[in-house]
Amino acid sequence: SAQIITVIKGDGIGPSIVDAATAILDKVGCNFQYEYVDAGLTALEKTGELLPQATLDAIARNKITLKGPLTTPVGEGFTSINVTLRKKFNLYSNVRPVISFKGTKARYDNIDIITVRENTEGMYSGAGQVVKNDGELAEAMSIVTREGSARIVEFAFELARREQRKKVTIVHKANILKSTSGLFLKTAREVAARYPDIQTVEMIVDNACMQLVMNPQQFDVIVTTNLFGDILSDLCAGLVGGLGMAPGANIGKDCAIFEAVHGSAPDIAGKNLANPSSVILASIQMLEYLGMKDKAQQILAAVTDVIATGDRTTRDLGGTHGTTDFTQAVLERL
Ligand code: NAI
Ligand code: MG
Repeated sequence: SAQIITVIKGDGIGPSIVDAATAILDKVGCNFQYEYVDAGLTALEKTGELLPQATLDAIARNKITLKGPLTTPVGEGFTSINVTLRKKFNLYSNVRPVISFKGTKARYDNIDIITVRENTEGMYSGAGQVVKNDGELAEAMSIVTREGSARIVEFAFELARREQRKKVTIVHKANILKSTSGLFLKTAREVAARYPDIQTVEMIVDNACMQLVMNPQQFDVIVTTNLFGDILSDLCAGLVGGLGMAPGANIGKDCAIFEAVHGSAPDIAGKNLANPSSVILASIQMLEYLGMKDKAQQILAAVTDVIATGDRTTRDLGGTHGTTDFTQAVLERL
């Protein structure tokens, strides 16, 4: 029977880039069955809820979700839908790979970095968020556990081993954030000691930012806490041509959500300008997760060739074409 995939098209540029990805998956003969559900603004308008129960049920039932970006309305009473999904389904690892593609406007070549971001704890735990004293004082709680730190660092080292990576860089701020980042670093060291075949480097987050810009080729796998991982992964996207090239996988014990790193891009929504590569690359991560390596390779080769050729690429890549032309160029190569 066909694998069922939950698909959330999302807001803004979401539907256009998710449709591109599913067309490509169909073209290579994945034979998936898609169950479409809503979340974000689209769901709010239809149902009055940002994250309807039917959507949660589909994610839980099918285990695999492909998701476009969601707009979380700014203001009180709206907690981030992405944070909610990650916590609800315990998707504790966020895997964000960036690789250099020839033909982009990126400043670097030969970059191949995977950021493994802890996805449920840290500054994004959501705990203790209060504003006091008539708006004069704001507080939030950062929560780090040994268990949460150990499982994300283990995930990173296991991934490094599986993909024959050489080095894992542990990024932290334990010199200042003694308790939280301190526990993360201490736990990470204990886990790293069990992987003598992989080189371990420790780096303080501010230095890591500088090093990523000065000499990004030194990085292989990065493992870090939630907030640092959020920021570093956008920085990494910038090294390879921008957010349009950056996919991410949210992975838990038996459930996974594949998405772009970027948001709903309201500035370019509805204009056929979005680069669909982010979600196409996320769907490649999904195929790898499902063990469909050949199809993943086929799609990656087609995208690589379209970008290298450069005659139908989107504006962010230096081209003059739209989402649909780019997608068509990929489809033709398949
Ligand atoms: P954004 O990531 O949507 O956009 C940042 C910049 O990158 C914009 O200039 C945009 O045009 C460009 N960009 C993003 N994706 C692109 C693509 N595929 N092709 C070409 N250019 C692209 O960030 P912003 O504007 O800060 O957030 C907009 C909304 O997205 C907010 O409501 C935010 O909450 C939400 N958001 C959702 C995320 C998710 O669902 N995973 C992640 C980040 C933000
Ligand atoms: Mg982010």
